[in-house]
Amino acid sequence: MPTSTPPATDALFSDQWLTLREPADHRARDAQLTHAADQWLVRRAATNPAQDTRPFETRRTVVDLGCGSGSNLRYLAPRLQGAQQWRLIDHDAGLLAQARQRCESLASADGQPIHLETDQLSLTTAWQHGLEGADLVTASALFDLLTADALEAMADACQRSGCAVLFALSIDGLIRFHDASGSALYDDDDRFMLAALQAHQHRDKGGGPAVGGEAPRRLRESFHRRGYHIREAASPWRLGPESQPLAEALMAGWRQALHEHLPQQRDRVDQWHGRHLDDLRRGRVTLTVGHRDLLATPADATHPGARA
Ligand SMILES: C[S@@+](CC[C@H](N)C(=O)[O-])C[C@H]1O[C@@H](n2cnc3c(N)ncnc32)[C@H](O)[C@@H]1O
Repeated sequence: MPTSTPPATDALFSDQWLTLREPADHRARDAQLTHAADQWLVRRAATNPAQDTRPFETRRTVVDLGCGSGSNLRYLAPRLQGAQQWRLIDHDAGLLAQARQRCESLASADGQPIHLETDQLSLTTAWQHGLEGADLVTASALFDLLTADALEAMADACQRSGCAVLFALSIDGLIRFHDASGSALYDDDDRFMLAALQAHQHRDKGGGPAVGGEAPRRLRESFHRRGYHIREAASPWRLGPESQPLAEALMAGWRQALHEHLPQQRDRVDQWHGRHLDDLRRGRVTLTVGHRDLLATPADATHPGARA
């Protein structure tokens, strides 16, 4: 089902950018939360199987919100046991086609098949209709883009379907350069630019201010209020010389964002950007970008028969 209104440009991402960030994303993710999600799915599949009328091969239904070109699926599917039915949701038809093409031959941790279905939907439509039958709803690098109301609507939809959620790589607003001794560099210019970047992340991308770096806290509170058991872990990018192309692309994006946010301060922005870029290129600093992963499991829904 196509989206009825075209996506805002702020909510469009190039496959090139998503591909560039994928190795750093996969390195940063918390393996223990993935393992705990797998164990939860195993227990759910084993509890009261008689109540589950689905064919055996689709007993684990995973919905990936804002799937892009499939990075989250490429990380998770081979780490989860059992045959899996994945529903990939995104408003970008080109990214969905990439995801299908690049993920069709994946297998589960124990060599079972992965079934894929793609849905070109807006997230708002997804939480009205797209989460039915989900055992696990997952997303990566998504929630900073959304409004606080959208997060609440998503949490309501997850609670209705009785699923667990695994949300990886939500930015927490931390950006730091570190010198060779590991000490954080944080002078007045850094403080000024990083505050401006955080403000820019809150800009309205359609429907109200985005939650930006507040995403991890808001996700935790939303699911806690709904009685979910919460586990969280830090999943920062630590970008050194081996991640130079990603660090440079990220900093080019920040420079553009700062030009938009501080149009009167272009020279100051360019000096700050140039100084840190030079240090990165010479291997004098590394760059840390904070993220958090969250696993939330419903208190009383380890089996499909317990769905509300
Ligand atoms: C930062 S990308 C992350 C993609 C992927 N999860 C990954 O980790 O590579 C955010 C994704 O969310 C999608 N997206 C953003 N806003 C959306 C909306 N309102 N409805 C549907 N998809 C949306 C974008 O098209 C993009 O693919």
